[in-house]
Amino acid sequence: METKRMIFVILISVLLSLSLPVRTDYVRPQPRKTLHFPREPKHPSLPHQVHISLAGENHMRISWITDDNSAPSIVEYGTLPGQYTFSSSGEATSYNYLFYSSGKIHHTVIGPLEHDTVYFYRCGGQGPEFQLKTPPGQFPVTFAVAGDLGQTGWTKSTLDHIDQCKYDVHLLPGDLSYADCMQHLWDNFGELVQPLASARPWMVTQGNHEKEKIPFFTDAFESYNARWKMPFEESESTSNLYYSFEVAGVHVIMLGSYTDYDELSDQYSWLKADLSKVDRKKTPWLVVLFHVPWYNSNHAHQGEGDGMMTAMEPLLYAAGVDLVFAGHVHAYERSKRVNKGKSDPCGTVHITIGDGGNREGLAQKYIHPTPEWSMFREASFGHGELKIVNSTHAFWSWHRNDDDEPVRSDQVWIISLIGSGCLAEKAYESSKILVSP
Ligand SMILES: [Fe+2]
Repeated sequence: METKRMIFVILISVLLSLSLPVRTDYVRPQPRKTLHFPREPKHPSLPHQVHISLAGENHMRISWITDDNSAPSIVEYGTLPGQYTFSSSGEATSYNYLFYSSGKIHHTVIGPLEHDTVYFYRCGGQGPEFQLKTPPGQFPVTFAVAGDLGQTGWTKSTLDHIDQCKYDVHLLPGDLSYADCMQHLWDNFGELVQPLASARPWMVTQGNHEKEKIPFFTDAFESYNARWKMPFEESESTSNLYYSFEVAGVHVIMLGSYTDYDELSDQYSWLKADLSKVDRKKTPWLVVLFHVPWYNSNHAHQGEGDGMMTAMEPLLYAAGVDLVFAGHVHAYERSKRVNKGKSDPCGTVHITIGDGGNREGLAQKYIHPTPEWSMFREASFGHGELKIVNSTHAFWSWHRNDDDEPVRSDQVWIISLIGSGCLAEKAYESSKILVSP
């Protein structure tokens, strides 16, 4: 009898194990440590931390650092290796931060450049040759998007993934190096990103980790502004903390979450003026980036973007902004088209992509139930790719570091507000809000 009972129990156990799904709970990866890599000794006048950014129509800014203060700010370039048909001279700056003195930070604008063309270039008249590819002049155009990068093993993993995809411009919605006042970490970050940032333009805006203000000693964003000069003058802004640029039919606006944004602020006035100048025939897509998300159903940084949202969302809605990218929350979230806190077919798609891989780890606690506007949310490290195919259609995908690069954990076709007819509907409202003094 006992033997029969044992056989029965074993049989039931086997049947249950076959019929029930195997439950293997996914374990979130732990944060990874900041990478430590000794800086290779170089001749003081050789360039390091080379990165490039768009600088007005058909121009590119080349930025690099030398230890030698007398090194020239010259860039030689051409379309064949080793044959530099052109050269440009630029400017240089440096800064001190408590006991730290930066190297000579060079910024040199080159151009006019051909679209979609590989250029070979050299910084300071000597040293290694770099190569860059200019973005296309028309659709399709592809953006890689990753915020809150830092410089950990996860950062390296994100960069390795991005390196495997074909893209034209990198967009970074704030929190770059996580130097947090340790200035040598800015130099480490510059070295870490150089392979990618010297080859494709990196268009960045600042986050809280760029503030680094020491009362009575150092202004906020001093290191960031010196090292990551963006095309603010080219877009008629008076501050490196907010600017815009155009690439292949897309008008991109970078805003500052940590600089004044109320109706009386310079940033607000500049944004209003910039939006009113956007020609949707020339740039059918309108994209905005800033650091602190307005639509966030993660417990991390909940409500921090409310003030900026109250001040600026009416402008973005009136102008018909297609997409907003934010960072700050170390996770990924994609919204429906939204406005005033709820879904609206003529609103903006908000994407939080602060999961680049910094040392603070992931933000894993979400608000329940999921808000009606939230379409996808997950706390994993990764990056996004936005391929704008034409004036009406774009394909967005999100890629986790845990997966191989081709795997898309979230993907969606996005129809532009022009494509959906919303922009025509907004014309009157837009003229009232954007053109009025
Ligand atoms: Fe942040």
